[in-house]
Amino acid sequence: MMAVREAVIALRPLILALCLAVAAGCGSGTSPEVGVGSEGTPDPVLVAGRSVYVDRCASCHDADGSGTGSGPRLNQGRLSQAYPDPDDAAEVVANGRDRMPAFGGLLSAGEIDAVLRYISEVL
Ligand code: HEC
Repeated sequence: MMAVREAVIALRPLILALCLAVAAGCGSGTSPEVGVGSEGTPDPVLVAGRSVYVDRCASCHDADGSGTGSGPRLNQGRLSQAYPDPDDAAEVVANGRDRMPAFGGLLSAGEIDAVLRYISEVL
C-alpha cells in the first residue's frame, strides 16, 4: 500500500501538469464560421465580426462565447437578453467596464456593431 501512495506523491507534478493542460484546452478551439445566407454567400458583416471576435474577444470570452475565468458568457442569447438594445452592448465594448477593456480606440463603430452581430447571431 505504501508503494502506491509514494507513487502517487511522486507523480503529483505530472498529474498537475495534465490537469493544467486539460484546463487550457477548454479555452482553445475555433470560433464557429458564419453560415451561408439566403443569397448563397455568408453575410460579409458577420464574417468581419467573426474576425474581430477571434482577434480581440475570444481570449477572454472563449472561442464559442461560453466565457472563461477572464470574461463572462456571451453566447446562446445571453447578449440580447442582457442588452435588448444593441447600442447598450456597443457602449460597454467601446468604453469598457471593470475588467472589460475599452475598445473604442481600437475598433470603429462599424467593427463593434459587426462583432456584436456575430456574437448574437452566430454564437
Ligand atoms: C481582457 C479580457 C476581455 C477581453 C479581451 C474582452 N472582454 Fe468583454 N468582458 C470582460 C469582462 C471581465 C467582462 C465583465 C465586466 C463587468 O463585470 O462589468 C466583460 C463584459 C463584456 C460584455 C458585457 C456582458 C454582460 O453580461 O454585461 C460584453 C458585451 C463584452 N464583454 C463584449 C466583448 C467584446 C465584443 C470583446 C472583443 C471586442 C470583448 N468583450 C473583449 C473581459 C474581456
